[in-house]
Amino acid sequence: MPFDRYNRDIDYLRISLTDACNLRCVYCMPEQMTFRPRDELLSDAELHRLIGIFASVGFRKIRFTGGEPTLRAGLVDLVSHAAQTPGIETIGLTTNGILLEGLAAPLRAAGLRSVNISLDTLDPEKFRRITRWGKLDRVLAGLDAAAGAGLRVKLNAVVSRGTNDREDVIALARYTLEQPWQVRFIEQMPFGNNAVFQHKSIVAEEELRAVLAEAYGPLELVNHGRLDGEARLYRIAGAAGCIGFISPVSKPFCADCNRLRLTAEGVLRLCLLRDNEIDLRPLLRNGADDEALATRIREAVYDKPWGHGLGEQVIPARGMSEIGG
Ligand code: 5AD
Ligand code: SF4
Repeated sequence: MPFDRYNRDIDYLRISLTDACNLRCVYCMPEQMTFRPRDELLSDAELHRLIGIFASVGFRKIRFTGGEPTLRAGLVDLVSHAAQTPGIETIGLTTNGILLEGLAAPLRAAGLRSVNISLDTLDPEKFRRITRWGKLDRVLAGLDAAAGAGLRVKLNAVVSRGTNDREDVIALARYTLEQPWQVRFIEQMPFGNNAVFQHKSIVAEEELRAVLAEAYGPLELVNHGRLDGEARLYRIAGAAGCIGFISPVSKPFCADCNRLRLTAEGVLRLCLLRDNEIDLRPLLRNGADDEALATRIREAVYDKPWGHGLGEQVIPARGMSEIGG
């Protein structure tokens, strides 16, 4: 098992498959975003190799993210490869859902068990404004396909005051009445490239719970408040699914962090919100053997910083879409 110097068990790797995206969410990237050339990204073969090495070091869970991971042609094969890698127990995918309709069934067949779909509103016009050009019906078709294919579904909504802090939260939470899904409300985080971030646009989870309680009655705490990943879970009385709150800014969960991140160009990022990085690509491309890579990964795990510095105004230089959310 890989433990860091604070005795956290680090066994979860989030792999960004591309920094590119087919949307331009206003809190994530500028409209005129430029992306990395293809040859700077790790190839499928390099990723296959790294997944095996991470598994040998003791990593048990992999999530593919982006940018938008469904833009990567080899996604289904990567999932299938990861699913067949001894030691890897769970594979997840975080997607905006635009291309999910055609991919849900093949991904399920390849070994994917769960999918996190980013969805901030059920209002088509507002969805277009937030994503700059996204079509909500594509995401809803992707969501249907995912549920239909037997994937466990989580919805992720980044909540921002004055944009989607009331009706949208109520509408998204309504899904949990009938569906066994987790609908999670996420505090917006500041990144180097999202100029729109403002501290005052964060809506505290207490406030969202009050909005939901007014609409649906009191929320019941699930699991005695134990975090599920990074989410605190609640349930509307009698509901099939759960409502989660992810509050990295107002209630940091760094003490329970179990993850590293690999950017699409092969940089191992030790904390989402701190710029400590180890570039694995030169090792991969200059003939390092598996043991050398495994050693580098173990050292990186050990060096994982304790937590983020948002409280001290330490803002990461890279954007979320480069790091993988
Ligand atoms: N703060 C919080 N979440 C963000 N995401 C993108 N940018 C930010 C941000 N600045 C979310 C997306 C998606 C996940 C990968 O990260 O909406 O759900
Ligand atoms: Fe794309 Fe996700 Fe960023 Fe939106 S938040 S632009 S869907 S990477």
